[in-house]
Amino acid sequence: MELITTYICKQFDIGIHSNMFGGRIMSLIDDAAGSYAAQLCDTPNVVTIKFDELVFKKPVKVGSILKIYGKVLRFGNSSLELYMEVRKHNVYTGIQEIVTHTNVKFVRIDEDGNAIPISDRIKERYAARFKQFGKGLLTPESRELIVLTAEVTA
Ligand SMILES: CC(C)(COP(=O)(O)OP(=O)(O)OC[C@H]1O[C@@H](n2cnc3c(N)ncnc32)[C@H](O)[C@@H]1OP(=O)(O)O)[C@@H](O)C(=O)NCCC(=O)NCCS
Repeated sequence: MELITTYICKQFDIGIHSNMFGGRIMSLIDDAAGSYAAQLCDTPNVVTIKFDELVFKKPVKVGSILKIYGKVLRFGNSSLELYMEVRKHNVYTGIQEIVTHTNVKFVRIDEDGNAIPISDRIKERYAARFKQFGKGLLTPESRELIVLTAEVTA
């Protein structure tokens, strides 16, 4: 799994029981999953088609740091399904507790909004990166490191 987003819970995220709104957490998951899917597929043209069940296991309070992790469960023809996990991060201990998790499915669409296939190149690139680095997104720094390592070992 890889870290996609970090968010600090604000006063305006809070509902009547002093806990963060479940809908806000869902929205954060959708944002994180959508941006992750778009980056993995090299296009902003992906849409959410399905959210699985969400169970909120731990309350989130003002000031809580949320970390949203994700990974690809499977690629279909035009779709990809992601596993998403929201954790509360304790800055004093580094301990993380799972707040909720779910699967979210996205579909790659064309300019007319119709489903189109995700290319084999995208699927193979994810598989190769996951095997080598345990994640699908590489930062510019890690890309540079790969080039440098390849030059040194050549
Ligand atoms: C996404 C959309 C274009 C797909 O259209 P569609 O007619 O269902 O297309 P298809 O039947 O070809 O299915 C496309 C993919 O979605 C999957 N899918 C369709 N209905 C599904 C369902 N009920 N549950 C899970 N997956 C489903 C199919 O399995 C297929 O995946 P695959 O190609 O990997 O096998 C259309 O449903 C849509 O526009 N939905 C609205 C999306 C949206 O606005 N989301 C919120 C904002 S991002």
